[in-house]
Amino acid sequence: MRDLTTTSVTDAVFEQMGETPNPRLKQVMESLVRHMHDFARDVELTPDEWLKAIGFLTKVGQTCTPARQEFILLSDVLGFSALVNLLHDKTAVELGTESSLLGPFYQQNAPSFALGDSIAATSDEPELLLYGQVTDKTGKPLPNASVQVWQTDAKGEYDLQKFHGEQMDMRGNFRCDSEGRFHFRAVKPLGYYIPMDGPVGALIRAQRRHGCRPAHIHFLIGADGYRELVTAIYLADDEHIDSDTVFGVSSSLVVSPRDNDPDAPIKGIPAIRYDFRLGRAADNETGRVGADPSQILSMAE
Ligand code: BEZ
Ligand code: FE
Repeated sequence: MRDLTTTSVTDAVFEQMGETPNPRLKQVMESLVRHMHDFARDVELTPDEWLKAIGFLTKVGQTCTPARQEFILLSDVLGFSALVNLLHDKTAVELGTESSLLGPFYQQNAPSFALGDSIAATSDEPELLLYGQVTDKTGKPLPNASVQVWQTDAKGEYDLQKFHGEQMDMRGNFRCDSEGRFHFRAVKPLGYYIPMDGPVGALIRAQRRHGCRPAHIHFLIGADGYRELVTAIYLADDEHIDSDTVFGVSSSLVVSPRDNDPDAPIKGIPAIRYDFRLGRAADNETGRVGADPSQILSMAE
């Protein structure tokens, strides 16, 4: 029998996990144990802190519902989701427009609209026109590309927060025309606090962080043979454009509406033009990192 020390306990765990038949599970768990043990040694974790962490993670789990994913939120505020995104993008055979976080408010069964329609079911706030073209990396149009969009209303709330999954608003699916062009009407989104009423919000307050995301509009764009693009465009005039709580902004995704855009397909409302480029996809490759919260439990089965 081996007597354990603060260092040999790590090898003892590796030994017990050594027969794991799935090589990826073996690799991931060994690395996780190594880093967790190093972390505990590094900060000299106390029993009280260990229990607090377990209590915190328990609350994170208890806060999850089919319409709310507190674990994804935790991953987001720790920059972990942004890191997984960046790592995933490095695996692409070809990259187009920069990606951004899918976030916890994506829903897969949003309504379909015709080009030019408004995604706002309940809001009469100042309108915004979004338009552009979906092309490949070289600028070749991708006919009939699909464009899914979701955003907050003009008060900074998602439908999932307002209606708890009972009603959809400010989201929709569009099919581009034969030139890959799309346009639709929305409202000017407002920056918002990430959900602050749960354990992640408590952590953000304890760290004296503001907890805001700059105003943005999410996009999920697809075309046959191309890597699905999950991204968002961010409004330049938002005060938190340089300090996003979840690290989703890159400079190529920052935009400003124009008041009298002569090229806009609908006149009289401020317009944002953004052209999206898709990279070619290897077989079964997707750029998607994340999922509809209601799907996540079944994925773990
Ligand atoms: C979002 O953009 O919808 C989002 C992303 C991460 C955390 C909270 C919200
Ligand atoms: Fe968002």
